[in-house]
Amino acid sequence: MIQNELKKAVGIKSVDLIQPHMTVGLGTGSTVYYMVEELGRRVQEENLAVECVTTSNRTWKQAEKLGIPLKKLDEVHTIDLTIDGADEIDQNYQGIKGGGGAHTREKIVALNSHQNVWIVDQSKMVSHLGKFPLPLEVNPFGSQQLFERLQAENLHPVFRVDDQGNQFLTHMKNYVIDLHLKEIKHPHLLADWLDHQSGIIEHGLFLDVVNTVIIGSDNGPKIID
Ligand code: 5RP
Repeated sequence: MIQNELKKAVGIKSVDLIQPHMTVGLGTGSTVYYMVEELGRRVQEENLAVECVTTSNRTWKQAEKLGIPLKKLDEVHTIDLTIDGADEIDQNYQGIKGGGGAHTREKIVALNSHQNVWIVDQSKMVSHLGKFPLPLEVNPFGSQQLFERLQAENLHPVFRVDDQGNQFLTHMKNYVIDLHLKEIKHPHLLADWLDHQSGIIEHGLFLDVVNTVIIGSDNGPKIID
């Protein structure tokens, strides 16, 4: 099966986990797109009663068009379940997110959720994290000094640019620096170091976050709890 079909299959499958009257976090990305389409269908055709918060303006707009009831994060008391994509997942179910630059909101929503589900095609499953460049959302103020500090630590930073070659800006108008590490041997140590650097708003290491992974393979979606 081609990658988009795998993404579609896991996106649709994940909606089975949404129960009536849940508050649901909606992630960001091309896999989540299919999940939101299916959720919209069930809201419209099956009157599935849910309220949702989103991790990006893109997902908000898609969900709004489909008539999915939406709330801002600060308007909800608790999030029952969040469904999101991922860029890499290792054998211990640790992940890298932020390929779309939405990882700060994604992490805030994930850490406020009772259950987190990641939906991925099989290409995202890896033995070790790090082949996918690790995204950092950084404050533009002092970002050059931060960049040099990351270089001095041999973390191979690269400022992310958009399709036109301009500085990539997040929803919150911050920059993204991607760390081209090839392999992350000690994800918890790196996460701890990054957590303590001023100027880094959030990094894309999502450690000990996920409860369920749905992997798209040629044999159909595989659920790992
Ligand atoms: C965005 C993310 C996405 O979840 C991640 O990039 C996966 O995206 P896709 O489903 O398009 O491969 O973390 O910040």
